[in-house]
Amino acid sequence: MASPSRSGAFQVDVDKSVEKFTESISFDFRLAQQDIRGSIAHAAMLAGQGIISEAESKQIAETLTAIGQEIADGEFEFDESLEDIHMNIEHVLIERIGDVGRKLHTARSRNDQIATDQRMWIRDQISELDDLLKQTQLSLVAFAEREAQTIIPAYTHLQRAQPVLAAHYLLAFCEKFARDRERLRDCLTRVNRCSLGTAALAGTTLPIDRNETASALGFDSVIANSLDSSSDRDYVIEFVFCLTLIAIHLSRLAEDFIIWSTTEFDFIELPEQYCTGSSIMPQKINPDVLELIRGKSARVIGSLQTLLVLMKGLPMAYNRDLQEDKPALFDAVDTVSASLTLTNGLIAGAKLKSDSIAGGLERGFLDATTLMEYLIGQGMPQRKAHHLIGKVVRKAMQENKTLADLSLETYREFEPTLDESLFGVLGVDNAVNAFVSEGSTAPARVAEQISRWKQDLENATS
Ligand code: ARG
Repeated sequence: MASPSRSGAFQVDVDKSVEKFTESISFDFRLAQQDIRGSIAHAAMLAGQGIISEAESKQIAETLTAIGQEIADGEFEFDESLEDIHMNIEHVLIERIGDVGRKLHTARSRNDQIATDQRMWIRDQISELDDLLKQTQLSLVAFAEREAQTIIPAYTHLQRAQPVLAAHYLLAFCEKFARDRERLRDCLTRVNRCSLGTAALAGTTLPIDRNETASALGFDSVIANSLDSSSDRDYVIEFVFCLTLIAIHLSRLAEDFIIWSTTEFDFIELPEQYCTGSSIMPQKINPDVLELIRGKSARVIGSLQTLLVLMKGLPMAYNRDLQEDKPALFDAVDTVSASLTLTNGLIAGAKLKSDSIAGGLERGFLDATTLMEYLIGQGMPQRKAHHLIGKVVRKAMQENKTLADLSLETYREFEPTLDESLFGVLGVDNAVNAFVSEGSTAPARVAEQISRWKQDLENATS
């Protein structure tokens, strides 16, 4: 089929290998509904400006709506020889309504059309991702509430550091996902600008009204400079960057849960529906979903890399290279959406093994820093207290004891002024209860955060 993009300037048909190499319909078919919406708005604007008649605009809109329905119903056959989504739809439009259909592409180029479609598509995705992130936050808050009493060791350098409430850990991810949502909202302000009417690169000599199409399509504004518009994919890069951070957050959560599910840690029981077996070792219940969430984050990072490299050397303005942005964009969205959905299900079904965690909680001197701070409270300079508790820890290690096991006499050998109130901060329960600062794991602070999250997530309209 001869592509409508081949003008009278061509004397021969395109080579088959070129057709295969240059087509994008195999992936940009996903922009069909946005393409149709954009075209209907464009035709209405052309009629409003007296460039085509109202009757023509109506005929175009009706035919495009029918085509959109056929595509949604899976009844539309896409044709590779028609290159892309724009040509596939326009071709059928012309087949059905002839010369009226041939007027649709007035004052428009596929260069502004593709950017408009893509911006609308990303806008829709942002709203869906926001919803998925919010669901994930709700699952985390519910998990935090289920584990309100559970204390876990927190790590730096993957070495035991200080005790925290499990809820504090879970809410830490809630914060990360809140920033992800914030970033997406901010990104939307730059995505939601309309490129339609910038035509190929220089604008058009026809008297179009860009503001009309922009507002009909729900854009906040029009892009001011046609060259900028034709050459720009910043909004794709920015959006995919937002996706990479979500993927990285999910990957880190997955990594912790994978470690926690080992026999060595034995902190978490994962829902069996989200685990897989080994074909040779019958005892294995593997956290493959978590591993794949971690693994697939690499694809998202790869997509961002692809986009950045794609753009770095492009001359002004549109270049066909830009077509290559879509596989990266689509894959990043699909991967992150699926990872979020799966994470959600996993969190909803996961249980912390509180007995097993509690069994090992007094190992690793999680209360050492709290004891040091107790001494600071007694008037000892920090460096002195730090050094002294280090020596106490060394002694406890040698005697295979916890800090609470050591007697007051032993403590007095290190510092004669000490009295038995020091035992009030020893042991993980006391240590956790001793926290007071804002943002800390202090039980009262964490409880406040849980209520804040519940309120915020319930009230949020987005
Ligand atoms: N399929 C192209 C893209 O994704 C849009 C078409 C513009 N093609 C062109 N030859 N000007 O960017």
